[in-house]
Amino acid sequence: MRKPRTPGEGRSLPERRSDGEEEGSDETMGAVRWGILGTGKIAGAFAAALTELPGAEAVAVGSRRAVTAARFADRYRILRRHPSYGALAADPDVDVVYVATPHSLHRDNTLLCLEAGKAVLCEKPLAVNAHQAGEMISVARERGLFLMEAMWTRFLPAFARLRELLAAGELGEPRLVRADFCIRRPREPGSRLFEPELAGGALLDVGIYTVALAAAVFGTRPERVTGLAHLGPTGVDERSGAVLDYGDGRLAVLSSANRTVTPNDALVAGSRGWVRLHDPFWSPQKLTVAIGDQRHEEEHPFRGNGYGYEAAEVGRCLAAGAGESEVMPLDESLAVVETLDRIRQPWGLVYPGEPTSDPMRS
Ligand SMILES: NC(=O)c1ccc[n+]([C@@H]2O[C@H](COP(=O)([O-])OP(=O)(O)OC[C@H]3O[C@@H](n4cnc5c(N)ncnc54)[C@H](OP(=O)(O)O)[C@@H]3O)[C@@H](O)[C@H]2O)c1
Repeated sequence: MRKPRTPGEGRSLPERRSDGEEEGSDETMGAVRWGILGTGKIAGAFAAALTELPGAEAVAVGSRRAVTAARFADRYRILRRHPSYGALAADPDVDVVYVATPHSLHRDNTLLCLEAGKAVLCEKPLAVNAHQAGEMISVARERGLFLMEAMWTRFLPAFARLRELLAAGELGEPRLVRADFCIRRPREPGSRLFEPELAGGALLDVGIYTVALAAAVFGTRPERVTGLAHLGPTGVDERSGAVLDYGDGRLAVLSSANRTVTPNDALVAGSRGWVRLHDPFWSPQKLTVAIGDQRHEEEHPFRGNGYGYEAAEVGRCLAAGAGESEVMPLDESLAVVETLDRIRQPWGLVYPGEPTSDPMRS
């Protein structure tokens, strides 16, 4: 296998500390040169985060239309603007592309960039189904190129603290994860949240955070998956509940919605104690930690809008010549997409282009 591309020469990037902070940034080092693919909401948040991240620079943007590329480039002071995704992928001055398009395009957009020799940070979920995700991972590994799912939550200080508590055995054996990601969005025509063609639905858009949390805590695939969903008028899930059985009595109880608001806390409980990740649990700044009969609250603020942490991780991996991140490994992203497939399979939710009712076999 070819060694993954390393951006620039002789560059060192900030080290990651256990609190998610960085140290050792050097104003003089060469920056990782980012290309941004797509100019929607999250692309803007990510571009804004890059402007505040040492050792990173957004150098190019690609859009389906020249006018939107130019508007985005002007707003975030990006020099190179491309009127197609292909032109961005071919830009020799780009080290890594951030794919920020709707779910149904993640596979094709990522493959376009990998085939042009670019490293890729792809928005969540890595793909619509496990078959697609497996294809992307195979191409990245065959070509020796870096690929990571943009599960930004993983890199925030509160999550680093949760990992620390679990690794140190402070909570005992993990037994139960409870998490809700329920929001209300308007059911507008063409919205990626509700369009089957764009792989809409609450599970793939927000429920994935609950499944990714359970995957991080239990570190394995569920043995059994059960649940129910309400499918809305466009045919995608608008509310659902799932119970995942990880064996040995380990359970995850998860809900997601895109037409109903709830408090969005998460709880990780072990044999000795528990941690509450306060609403919104996917970007928490506060934890309650209870061990035995002792309970305290912890503040874990993050810098800026929080998206700089995942970009910093990509920078570290590229500088180290790593093909993937240890914090968000590709096999875990694949396991999460497989679990999403298993959750929605009994609902009969099949996205356009999935040839059978079992997307894992498509
Ligand atoms: N990490 C997070 O916190 C977070 C938050 C929100 C969303 N996301 C993820 O980010 C991705 C994009 O979400 P978003 O909310 O940014 O979406 P969005 O605002 O709808 O933007 C998506 C962009 O994709 C491009 N695109 C290409 N083909 C498209 C099509 N057929 N329909 C619509 N857009 C198309 C468009 O850019 P051009 O017109 O420039 O080509 C569009 O601006 C999703 O995978 C989502 O799950 C992550």
